[in-house]
Amino acid sequence: MPRHESVWSATAAMPECGPLEQNVHVDVCVIGGGIAGLSTAYHLCQAGRSVAVLDDGALASGMTRMTTGHLTNMLDDRYFELEKLHGKDAIRVAADSHSAAIERIDEIVRTEGIDCDFSRLDGYLFLAEGDKPGTLDKELDAAHRAGLKDVQLMARAPFEWDTGPCLRFPRQGQFHPLKYLAGLAQAIRRDGGRIFCHSHADHVEGGVPGLVHVGKHVVTGDAMVVATNVPINNRLAIHTKQAPYMTYVIAARVPPGSVPQVLAWDTGDPYHYIRLHDDLLIVGGEDHKSGQAHDSPQRYRKLEAWARERFPMMREVEFMWGGQIMETIDYLAFIGHNPMDHDNIFVATGDSGMGLTHGTIAGMLLCDLILGRKNPWEKLYSPSRVPVMAAGEFAREDLNMAAQYADWLTPGDVRSADDVARDSGAIVRRGFEKIAVYRDANGAVHECSAVCPHLGCIVQWNPGEQTWDCPCHGSRFDAEGHVINGPANRDLPSVQRPEHKRAA
Ligand SMILES: Cc1cc2nc3c(=O)[nH]c(=O)nc-3n(C[C@H](O)[C@H](O)[C@H](O)COP(=O)(O)OP(=O)(O)OC[C@H]3O[C@@H](n4cnc5c(N)ncnc54)[C@H](O)[C@@H]3O)c2cc1C
Ligand code: FES
Repeated sequence: MPRHESVWSATAAMPECGPLEQNVHVDVCVIGGGIAGLSTAYHLCQAGRSVAVLDDGALASGMTRMTTGHLTNMLDDRYFELEKLHGKDAIRVAADSHSAAIERIDEIVRTEGIDCDFSRLDGYLFLAEGDKPGTLDKELDAAHRAGLKDVQLMARAPFEWDTGPCLRFPRQGQFHPLKYLAGLAQAIRRDGGRIFCHSHADHVEGGVPGLVHVGKHVVTGDAMVVATNVPINNRLAIHTKQAPYMTYVIAARVPPGSVPQVLAWDTGDPYHYIRLHDDLLIVGGEDHKSGQAHDSPQRYRKLEAWARERFPMMREVEFMWGGQIMETIDYLAFIGHNPMDHDNIFVATGDSGMGLTHGTIAGMLLCDLILGRKNPWEKLYSPSRVPVMAAGEFAREDLNMAAQYADWLTPGDVRSADDVARDSGAIVRRGFEKIAVYRDANGAVHECSAVCPHLGCIVQWNPGEQTWDCPCHGSRFDAEGHVINGPANRDLPSVQRPEHKRAA
């Protein structure tokens, strides 16, 4: 049986850190200990600022743990598409910023001596089944216009199977994400930064000073950075401009030397992504809108079938895992001042499948904004930008979100909690209420309200990940209803089963 965890969780431990136990004052409070939060804290510490990082789990317990660790300036939404929305100058800024992020990681790894399996390698973008070669021609031209002059059209990628024509993106990167973050955390602490784990930020307030409430305690500071992957401090402004997608990964051993050390992606939508870590072949894809598909076990099987067809030397699947990415309607992350808020509150979100470079861009850009320095990337990534050219996508996503409220009127997935099998979950209707019912492996039943505390959509069971996923703006909850992803910032309210109410 494959292990249901990422290769990274199984092969590295993060530094221990304890909870916040008193009020603290710092220059900057960063909420979120993933790549965006720790990169921001690192740059601020380097600039001599006092920093506190808060994470409500163990360090790096969010989506950075689930990544596949590609570091690339190959934009997964394509340069020619980005150019249609943002123009020619913008694609140069996008290419520069993603290239600079890889460069910055390279530099940090060397100067801090972080042993995180970082390497530079080529990346290949090949055609998905049914896609036309014109896609590569358009992307090649756009990549050149964006300043990536060394991107080349090749006859095929260097695999044993014939990928057909592809684009080669030189000097990409890959690393072990948790080992990298462990190195960042160590450097932050060395420079006086403080890291608090198991410290849930309940509420963030701007003004002078800014405040973050963490249970009974408070962190005050000149600036607050919300790097929780999906902002927990923003009810609407950003959430209507991005949508959550689940994506899945498998890893299986291959004979040493049988697969070249490259990154690779196809042009599909959703696309497949491939890399090696030691002799583990890691293949991802099969994305779907969060909470809007209930077939994740089949998706893992499809991913395996796709990989076996191309890499027949692959042994048994050893690891499988899935996670969520946030897709903005105009293909770029939101990094900067939180819209319609005090100007000392900053956010980083909208990672897409490029969250490692976006998170590193956030580290550099937010540090500059907080220190009052000019940064040429500010406008492109501004969370307040109005994506006029993406109006069609905006309308489509908002209609999709609005349609999710129809779930209030539908019957449950099953008639009663008795119909829920062990180790699984289902929605049960009880009068006007919808209940998220999970029966654990021992047969005990856990019931919560199925109404997402963010804006009231009905959560859905994800059988592969054993989570409750909200189909609207990205909130996710574990099987027992504890929040694991914003924008919801609290658990699904637990409910008593009717027989318990009667007995009380
Ligand atoms: C399967 C998969 C594969 C991917 N592959 C790639 C890839 O190859 N390359 C790439 O560039 N990107 C990839 N991505 C995207 C990338 O991994 C993520 O976008 C990125 O890691 C997100 O980093 P983050 O710091 O924004 O969020 P996270 O890593 O999720 O960090 C946010 C942190 O905030 C904490 N938090 C949340 N709420 C609170 C609160 N209220 N109080 C305190 N703390 C809180 C969480 O515990 C978490 O640790 C992939 C994503 C997935 C799911
Ligand atoms: S995430 Fe917005 S309603 Fe659930």
